[in-house]
Parts: sequence; C-alpha cells; structure tokens
Amino acid sequence: MTIPTPISNPLPAPDAVPQGLPDVAALTSLASQFFAALPGAAGNSAGHLPSNPVPANPQPAGFSPGPLANGPALPGTFAPGANAAPANPQDGAAVLASTPSLAPKAAATNGLPDHAAIVPPALNGRFGGHSLGVPQVSPRTAPTTDSASPFYFLADATPYAPQSKAQDVPREDLVSARSFGLPGADDLRALLADNRAPARATPASQPQRGAFDVHAVRRDFPILQERVNGRQLVWFDNAATTQKPRQVIERVSYFYEHENSNIHRAAHELAARATDAYENARESVRRFINAPSVNEVIFTRGTTEAINLIAKSWGARNIGEGDEIIVSNLEHHANIVPWQQLAWAVGAKIRVIPVDDDGQVILSEYQRLLGPKVKLVAVTQVSNALGTVVPVKEIVDLAHRNGSKALVDGAQSISHMRVDVQDIGADFFVFSGHKIFGPTGIGAVWARAEILDDMPPWQGGGNMIEDVTFERTRFQPAPNKFEAGTGNIADAVGLGAALEYVEGWGIENIGRYEHELLDYATQLLRPIKGVRLVGTARDKASVLSFTLEGYTTHEVGVALNEEGISVRTGHHCAQPILRRFGLETTVRPSLAFYNTRDEVDRFIAVVQRLSKAPH
Ligand code: ALA
Repeated sequence: MTIPTPISNPLPAPDAVPQGLPDVAALTSLASQFFAALPGAAGNSAGHLPSNPVPANPQPAGFSPGPLANGPALPGTFAPGANAAPANPQDGAAVLASTPSLAPKAAATNGLPDHAAIVPPALNGRFGGHSLGVPQVSPRTAPTTDSASPFYFLADATPYAPQSKAQDVPREDLVSARSFGLPGADDLRALLADNRAPARATPASQPQRGAFDVHAVRRDFPILQERVNGRQLVWFDNAATTQKPRQVIERVSYFYEHENSNIHRAAHELAARATDAYENARESVRRFINAPSVNEVIFTRGTTEAINLIAKSWGARNIGEGDEIIVSNLEHHANIVPWQQLAWAVGAKIRVIPVDDDGQVILSEYQRLLGPKVKLVAVTQVSNALGTVVPVKEIVDLAHRNGSKALVDGAQSISHMRVDVQDIGADFFVFSGHKIFGPTGIGAVWARAEILDDMPPWQGGGNMIEDVTFERTRFQPAPNKFEAGTGNIADAVGLGAALEYVEGWGIENIGRYEHELLDYATQLLRPIKGVRLVGTARDKASVLSFTLEGYTTHEVGVALNEEGISVRTGHHCAQPILRRFGLETTVRPSLAFYNTRDEVDRFIAVVQRLSKAPH
C-alpha cells in the first residue's frame, strides 16, 4: 500500500485529488494501530509507524494552536507537520487559507513521520473518531434563517457559551458555519477548565440565596487591594465609574486572546466567535433589563451617546417648532444638552420639573407642565449628584396619558436596583456599562421595536446597511441600523460578563446591602459639625453629597485622598441641580456593593478630623 505524499506545501488544488490515496478502511486501520501504540511501545509489524515514544506534545515548532495554546495537546487532533490536513482534500485549501495556524510551518521534529498526519478521523468527525482514541468533532450545521438558535457552531465550543437562548438576532450577513476540524466542545471545556474563566462570569464564591458576603465580593475585585498614599484604597467614586471584577477583566482578555475579529462580516472562525460573543452580550443586556427582544437593544458608547442617538434620530423626526421636552431639575448634563441642541435646531422648548428641598421631584408641578405640546419626558431614575431615586414609573405613566413618549436614564440606577423596562413602561431606557462593573466605552439603548422601526439611522456607514448604490441605500433593521461602523466589540462582551456577574449576586441582595450601608454612612456623616448634606430624599441610592464648612470641596477631596479614599468633588456634570441648592460643587462619596462599614468609618474619621480643625 502506498502512503500518500504528505500534504505539506503546496496543497493539492481542490480539483486535483492526489493519486494513490488509500481507502478509508486502510487509513482507519493504520490510524488505529498508530494511536493504539502506547508511548514507548514498538510500532506495528508493518514498520510504518514509529517505535520511538510519542512525545507529550506532538506539535512542531512554529505550530500555533490558537485557543489551545496553554492546554495539553489533544492526542491525534493536531498531529505534527503536514497532519493538519483534513480528510477531504477539497476541504484543505479552505481550511488552511482561513486558519493559517493549522498550516505546517516546520517539519515535524518529534520523531513522527509527517505521513502519519493524514489520519483523517482526527481532523474530521465523519468516521473513526472514538474508535481511534481521538476526540470527536461535533457535527456543526450552517445557520439557517429559521434556525431555533441564532448562534452558529460556537455556542457549544466556548467556555462562554450562552446560557439562555437569544431571541430574534438579525439573520442578515451572518457568517457561515463550517467545520474546521477543531476539537469538540467537551475537549475544549476540559482543556479550558484548569486555567480559563468559568462559563459564566459568576462570583468566585457562589452566594447563597439571601446571603451577601461583602468580603467574598471584594475578593473578585483586584483593584481594591491597591494602596494609595500608603493606605488600602477606598473606592467611593462609584457614581463616576465602578471597579471591575476579575470575571470581567478575564472575559475581555479572553476575547482578545481567542475571539478577536470584526463581526458579522466574514466566513472565518474568529468572526464567528466574535459575533457569538457580541450577540451573546446583547442577550445578556436584554435579560438584565427584561427587554422583550434583543433587537430592541442597541450598543452605544454609553449613556451620553445613547441619549444623543435618540435625540438626533427620534427627536429630529418627532419634535418640531413649538413642541416641548420635559426634563427634571436633577438631570445629568447628558440628559439636558442633547435636548437643548435639538430644541435650538427646531425651535422647541425645554421644561423643567422642579425638586423640593430634599431633592425630590415635585410630581404636582410635573403634572402642571404636561400638555399637548409635550412630545417627550426624559428623566433620570437616580440622581448622580444627590442620589435621589425618582418615581419613574409614575412619571412615565403620566407622560403616556398625556400622549408623550418617555425616556428613562438608568446610568445611576442600573447597578443599584432591579430594572425591568417592561415594568417601568418607558419608551426608551439607556445606561452605561462602566457604571455597572463593566468596561468604559460601552452602553446601551433599549427602545420599543415599533419606535425603533420608525427611527432613521443617526450615523451612516458599514454594518448598518442592507444594500448600497450611489443612488440610494437600504438599511438593516434595528439594532444594526443604529450600529454604524465597527463597534466596541470586546467591551460589549465585557459588559455582558459584568451583568452576568451582578446576576450571580442578585441585584436585590446588592440593593439591600447598599441601602444599609448608605443609612449607616448617612447617620454618621450628617451630625458632623459643619457638614451640609445635599440631597435628603426619602428614597436614595449610593450617593452622599455634602459640603464642609471652612473647606472647599476640593480640599476635602484632597484630604480624603491622602488617606487613600477616592471621592468625586466638583459639579458632577449636573450644574443645574447643585445651583438649585445654591452650590457650584459638593464632595460626593458614592457607594457600591463592595464597600464596607470599615471603609465608611475611615471616611468619617477624616471628615471628623477636618471638622474639628477648621483652617
Ligand atoms: N456621570 C458621572 C458622575 O456622576 C461622570 O460622576
């Protein structure tokens, strides 16, 4: 029998099937003998197989196994030298063209003849498989437009496989699934289990129902071990941005190490991995906010871009001269300026719901503002400057009864309380990933499908089109219509991991713990001589804004920083609400679920010291 010439380089052209290929039975028999030989055992009687031990890692120099780089070699899956070729030579060119790491880059130096590499079952699950002691490659099917799962072949072969079925992912332009002869899901899981992140970004120690162990939470956040000015960091600037758990950091690293590609656009493996990861993150957002469909979730850079998108698309189409937009006095600049810009452009007006001396919106005044000209009511769910929790459900309901649309800014609520967009009932909900333990530069808009359908794209470019000629362009449906250009793919994936992480602890557990911590801090801070607490609403989340007599807010911030305590001082991008209280700046500690009473005590000690020694 003739052993075929190794398909090293060049590969036979797809239509030039090598002469002398042995039949399947012969190959199977050869392969069985080869893989049956224990390390150190003699080769078979025919003498075609090596008598020297099979090395622990039979990969040749220059071989780059990609996702398996740190794991042990899979016996028989990737054999050395030319043995990366598939069973079917017609598959070969495509495989090697799209996965160059599988192409032989050096002669095998491990004592195995290259021709042993042509063992087909190791690379193709069509026959042989277990009988040869090699991992089976799961059959993979190409996506179809009516498939139950929008995830193609990777969902079962990644440690970050989706845990629940995504809905309604757009089918346009999906990559084709095909087998590249990669190892099966079980093999990957086994390999990755040792040194890879878990399948979901869950807390390192799984919380018991109702239990909340802040020390276990803290162990997941490496940065909390930092030292600042010789003291362990106290991160009390959570309203500005939150710290990231190891699960998020590792998820983003994993993306760049194993999945990085542009999405939706290619027929290659990594495009499929990246697309899976990105769309899985969209599903995590959908699930977290209980949106009805993933097609209603649009990734943006954050809350600011999200509101700009709505203003420039929905607003420009639906708000005109003489129309009115209602916001509250509590709003962040991001929920004021885009509406002002729109109002200036079209001749509309901004109306403001006033707040009382505790920083609570005055609902009766809001009702007086409603009328036929009001097209939109846009309010925050939690004030970033005062911590006031705003009764958004009631505000949305009143807006709808008035025939107006309603937007809820969830930037400051998303990490502190259950957000259910269907329960809130608004038309738009927006938030930022970095406020909920995810990366910066990623956030989301949720909007009702029928509203999105009626909104024009706000940016044009790639990814968002269905067909382009020089005369006209047809757009994709939402969400793609609003995601022009290459987005922040890796950080969207990181955001998905952050949301899964929070789900692991349970947002109600988080909210309850934070509420107690905020009460504790408030009771200690408020009585300190010279302290003025700004924002004393009955319902508050996370934030303690204050001034200290005899000190500028900057001086207080510097004194706290000297003790390793980080707080924001300044206007917090919410000048109108500070001016409502006659202030330009405050000191603003803001708490998250990894903060402790000990940290609060350290903070209080500094304020007490300053209070006793005014300069
Ligand atoms: N919106 C952020 C804050 O409140 C930046 O600090």
